[in-house]
Amino acid sequence: MYKISNKATIKTLDRLHKESSSEKLTIIKGALKGFFRKLRPSDMEDAYIAISKDQGEYIYDLLIREKAKNIVEFRTSFGISSIYLGAAAKENNGHVITTELLASKASIALQNFKDADVSSEIDLIVGDAIETLQNAPKNIDFLLLDGWNNLYLPLIKILEPKLKKGAYIYTDNINFSGSKSFIEYIKSHPKKYKTERLSESKGGVELTQFV
Ligand SMILES: C[S@@+](CC[C@H](N)C(=O)[O-])C[C@H]1O[C@@H](n2cnc3c(N)ncnc32)[C@H](O)[C@@H]1O
Repeated sequence: MYKISNKATIKTLDRLHKESSSEKLTIIKGALKGFFRKLRPSDMEDAYIAISKDQGEYIYDLLIREKAKNIVEFRTSFGISSIYLGAAAKENNGHVITTELLASKASIALQNFKDADVSSEIDLIVGDAIETLQNAPKNIDFLLLDGWNNLYLPLIKILEPKLKKGAYIYTDNINFSGSKSFIEYIKSHPKKYKTERLSESKGGVELTQFV
């Protein structure tokens, strides 16, 4: 299995995973707001809601094995997943486009990218992904979908014409109700997508290949 060797990247990821592992109360407080009205991204302004270390290491290994260069991420938060993507892009001579709605989260993510020594590999676009990813480059090798899952389907429809044959799509929280329309779409197009469940923990993870 390929492992990250850059010391600054490892140190920053260790710090961020540590911080994100102690945020249960922050998430509960944010989620409570969603009982009385629809949950908004700003309700989770202080929360990482990040991928785990195991997920990050899996993604890094996959990206190196596949020599992925053009990497796109739907949702940065404070940048944990983006740092794994940026570290792989550094090895593969590639590039990452990631997008975050909240400017406050984006500015912290940018500092984290500097700390992790992956700033030059990542372009972070602030704004609504439905608009910002319309301009994503062609020939995407890898797409990470993580969070606010009701947008997975509209996003895959925007990005599908830009996926390279053989591209991988790693989707977190696939068992959440918002992801239903996305997984139904993927499964109803077997000539376009091969898909498998990687894990049922943390809301489920699906790995899909565009064929
Ligand atoms: C689950 S978190 C992403 C975690 C990140 N992938 C990680 O592992 O560190 C989801 C993020 O999506 C952002 N977000 C929500 N709606 C969005 C939209 N329409 N466009 C861009 N970002 C959005 C939220 O502000 C939140 O920071």
